[in-house]
This record gives sequence, C-alpha cells and structure tokens, in this order.
Amino acid sequence: MTLVNIIGSGKMARGIAVRMLHGRQPVHFLGRNGEQTRALVESLGAGATGGSVGDAIDGSVVFLAVPHSETRSVVLEYGDGLKGKIIVDISNPVDYATFDKLTTAPGTSAAEETAALLQGQADVVKAFNTTFSATLEEGAVAGQPLDVFIAGDSETAKRQISSLVAAGGLRPIDVGPLRRSRELEAFMLLVMGLQVNPEHDRYNWNTAVKILP
Ligand SMILES: NC(=O)c1ccc[n+]([C@@H]2O[C@H](COP(=O)([O-])OP(=O)(O)OC[C@H]3O[C@@H](n4cnc5c(N)ncnc54)[C@H](OP(=O)(O)O)[C@@H]3O)[C@@H](O)[C@H]2O)c1
Repeated sequence: MTLVNIIGSGKMARGIAVRMLHGRQPVHFLGRNGEQTRALVESLGAGATGGSVGDAIDGSVVFLAVPHSETRSVVLEYGDGLKGKIIVDISNPVDYATFDKLTTAPGTSAAEETAALLQGQADVVKAFNTTFSATLEEGAVAGQPLDVFIAGDSETAKRQISSLVAAGGLRPIDVGPLRRSRELEAFMLLVMGLQVNPEHDRYNWNTAVKILP
C-alpha cells in the first residue's frame, strides 16, 4: 500500500484521489482551504485524510494538484520536505485567457521546470495532464479505460506511478524521459483549443485522449 499525498483540494485532487482509492491506496490531501479539504475528505470516506499545505509529508508519492503558476511557491515552501520523494507534475501550462499558447519557455516544459526547482533532490514524473477531472471519477470514457501518459527520468519512479495508475483501473503508458513532457503539454494545448472552439461541439471537458486499440 502506498500513501498518496495530494497537494491541493480542487477538481484534479478529487479525480486522482478517486482512482487511487479505487486501487485501495490511501490518500492524504494537503489543502490550503481547511473547509474545502475537510469536505473533500468527508465526501470520499474511508481511506482519505486531510491536512494543510506546509505539513510534513509522510510517504513517498506527492501529486502537485495546483495550477502551474503556483508550483514554484509550493515547491519552494516545502524545500527539503520533498527530498527523496516522487513528485508528480500534472499541470497544463496553458494560457487560459487565449488557449493559444503555452506559458512555458520554448525548449522546456512545466515538469522540467519543476525538476529544476527540486535540484535533483526528488524524482519528477509527468502524468495525468491528459486526463480531465470529471473523466477520472468515472475512470473511462465511452467504456474505454483512460490512458495515462507517463514521462520521467527515473525508471523506478515511473514504475511506481504506473502501478498506482493500473491499480486505479487506468492504462499507464510510459512515453519516455521527462523531456517528453514538452509534447504531452503541447498536445493538451491543442486538445483544449478544440474543446473551447464552438465549431467542435462534440469535444468537451468529458472527452479523453486515448490510443486505440
Ligand atoms: N481540471 C482538469 O481537468 C485538469 C486536467 C489535467 C491537468 N490539470 C492540471 O491540474 C492542476 C490542478 O487543476 P484543477 O483543475 O484541479 O484546479 P482547481 O480545481 O482550481 O484546484 C486547484 C487547487 O490548488 C490549490 N492552490 C492554488 N494555489 C495554491 C498555492 N499557492 N498553494 C497551495 N494550494 C494552492 C487550490 O486551493 P484553493 O481552493 O484554496 O484556491 C485548489 O485546491 C493544474 O495544474 C491543471 O493544469 C487539470
């Protein structure tokens, strides 16, 4: 059993927790809004616990379920508290005002920025940026289990996240080193651009990115 820590108590925190609990892994939320965190814990029932951002972290896996713009302050606030952990970056660094560009510099990615902040003290894995929160609760779209694309430079860390994903009823796909996050993040700019485009009314926030068969 792996204690899965999730920083944040919003939509993705909930969706990821639902899959982890499905796989019988306990989850611990570190929220900045106590009331929201408590309500989330209560709604999920057995296996879910909560605390506050800044609390010491037990367990080796930490999901950053905060906006990309906030990753830096969260990582810096924890400092050495993240040493030796597997940090899962789920963010989509998209300019949400226009859906026309990424907010990262060319030649890098949000996940690589996170790794640079951690200065090699923790293993960063990119995962879950291609799954939408509502679809995670179901775990499937159109009867097909969601694919979770996983990038990272530590094979051990990727294996651990892959097994959590599989236990949660989803299909993990290792796409290679952490620099593949550039493609995962850029692809979601394209997908979200379709979702907000009224000409494509069949694409919405309940669609999924999946490789078939
Ligand atoms: N929504 C999706 O379908 C989806 C899909 C794939 C990836 N993502 C990525 O997942 C991440 C979370 O998205 P979301 O949709 O779950 O957003 P959300 O519902 O707005 O939740 C964000 C959470 O982050 C917390 N937070 C914000 N700034 C913080 C800070 N400085 N310190 C501590 N906590 C902070 C918020 O706390 P408060 O409630 O107090 O503001 C909230 O609990 C983003 O990086 C997004 O790109 C989202």
